Amino acid sequence: MNGSGDTAVPARPGRRVVDRSASRPSPGGHQSAPPASTGRIRLLPDALINRIAAGEVIERPASVVKELVENALDAGAGRIDVALGSRELWSIAVSDDGEGMSPDDLALAFQRHATSKITDLTDFERLATLGFRGEALPSIAAVSRIRAVSARHGAAEGAEVRLDGGRLDRIAPCAARPGTTIEVTDLFVHTPARKKFLKSASTELSHICSVLQQHALARPDVGFTARHEGRAVIEYPPAATPTERLAQVYGRDLVDERLIAVHLRRDHVEVTGWCSEPDLARATRRGQEWFVNGRPVRHPLFLRAVDQAYATRLMTGRHPVAVVFVRVPPSEVDVNVHPAKREVRFARPDDVSRALAEALGEAVSRSEIGRARATPVVPAASTGDDTVRESRPVYAGVTPDERRHAGMTALPVGPTIRFLGQFDRTYLLAEVDGELRIIDQHAAHERVLYERMLADYTAARRESQPLLVPETCEYPPDQACAIAERLDLLRDVGVEIEPFGAESFVIRAVPASLVQADWRALVWAMVDALIADDAMESPEPPHRLLATLACHAAVKAHQRLEAEAMSALLRDVVATPRNATCPHGRPVALTWTLYDLERAFGRRG
Ligand SMILES: Nc1ncnc2c1ncn2[C@@H]1O[C@H](COP(=O)(O)OP(=O)(O)OP(=O)(O)O)[C@@H](O)[C@H]1O
Ligand SMILES: [Mg+2]
Repeated sequence: MNGSGDTAVPARPGRRVVDRSASRPSPGGHQSAPPASTGRIRLLPDALINRIAAGEVIERPASVVKELVENALDAGAGRIDVALGSRELWSIAVSDDGEGMSPDDLALAFQRHATSKITDLTDFERLATLGFRGEALPSIAAVSRIRAVSARHGAAEGAEVRLDGGRLDRIAPCAARPGTTIEVTDLFVHTPARKKFLKSASTELSHICSVLQQHALARPDVGFTARHEGRAVIEYPPAATPTERLAQVYGRDLVDERLIAVHLRRDHVEVTGWCSEPDLARATRRGQEWFVNGRPVRHPLFLRAVDQAYATRLMTGRHPVAVVFVRVPPSEVDVNVHPAKREVRFARPDDVSRALAEALGEAVSRSEIGRARATPVVPAASTGDDTVRESRPVYAGVTPDERRHAGMTALPVGPTIRFLGQFDRTYLLAEVDGELRIIDQHAAHERVLYERMLADYTAARRESQPLLVPETCEYPPDQACAIAERLDLLRDVGVEIEPFGAESFVIRAVPASLVQADWRALVWAMVDALIADDAMESPEPPHRLLATLACHAAVKAHQRLEAEAMSALLRDVVATPRNATCPHGRPVALTWTLYDLERAFGRRG
């Protein structure tokens, strides 16, 4: 409807909404009567301008949810309910109990550059709202059909508007509860090209859940629900504390056992939140959520700060879980740098970096002191979580080149082999064909198991073993969606898992080698792997998934092993193909030839 001249939008500005487009010369005037031109350049019609602009803001169904939820939060809502209609997610309704809009405001809200949140540039200095551009609603409207109902608290009645492709079809008074409901249907009906780029329904649903989880983390006081085709996917009642909300989103176990509180105030920067003990590191950064003044955003300095804080405590390619809220005065941050408002620019980035590095570094050291006291110096033999032990910086500070020079080689298949001993409960020493080999017991076992699992998968053999007590696992909704879509694939690799309520699953059987694994750690890793495999267009075989299972089933660094088990592992690894590296690419063995040793001892020149 924006500027289309045929709308029923009242000409007078609403009580709160400033129609900034009114100050431009005849909005849309050029559409009906473009200036006579002899050249090739012409002004685009408004409807097309709006769709192009919408393309930047509304990329996928989750963008609609993000914008509508942000509007509800800005309106002071205490609860926000999201209803997702068809399987393909082309219908989305968001209801709130916020302050609502008058009929005039409701009509104006869908005009481009109509906002109640800023009036001039100086407002950015004290911006306290998530929205400020007056672009979201017109952008959504340009690519969908909309029905919106709103009523202000205490008003005798509310109003309903309907729009199609941005054109206002109807506005009428109606009975309505205080607050606002915006129903978006036929999303991208007017931009079919955009539809083609969308992923599967469950991937889109997972993005929507991520958006809701982020806002829920930022606003524990607000209740959130989401239903998909009538099924509850998110139910977060208002929480009394941020920790309670964190537990609603990530599950109580994780919060109680594995997350460390972060808190620091340095000059104008405040950092709060949680980060994980290094052992909860994941293969992707999906477990990291960053907020600036309550706005979920990303910024390269966040990644640097977290990498720095955990630098020597994690293997390369592993990322801790972190939910971090940065607060700075609004004048210290520019929020107007990204079309979907997903990025910010800091006036003094060094101050923020320093505060973050200090806050996270201090939290991590605190967790290590706690653990050092709580755990024995020599870990007992266990078949537990590999990420716990493997999170030691095996190659920290060593470049890939240096590793190669250190003599990383494949172990010859079928050689004579003599087991010599174990060093640091991690490295097996062996004589293989007259050379000294130092073998990483975890990497070696991982390769052995990976090749076995791969062979089973390729031959469609399912070697699963029922668990004596089926394990129930709870996942955050975005991850639950990723799992729900891939139950068959998991079954193909030997993991029998069934949905059990909205966000829970029951694991009934697993590959025999995984019976002893720590499922709480493995489930997260599995989801990362599924998503990473999916991002690579579901490769056959599912490399990352198999590698993750192998990693969790393998013996760990610092795990006590019987001499016989170590010899057996050596025999297995030399009989395994591709044994130069583990499935993640780390070397399995380093070699010292006799010549190397003699040179090192000065016996040869
Ligand atoms: N749920 C809601 N409750 C009350 N008012 C709303 C709601 N949604 C939108 N509005 C009003 O409509 C106006 C336009 O919303 P829109 O999302 O298009 O712009 P914005 O939030 O001001 O800025 P941005 O484009 O950055 O989101 C808002 O400024 C607000 O006054
Ligand atoms: Mg908005």
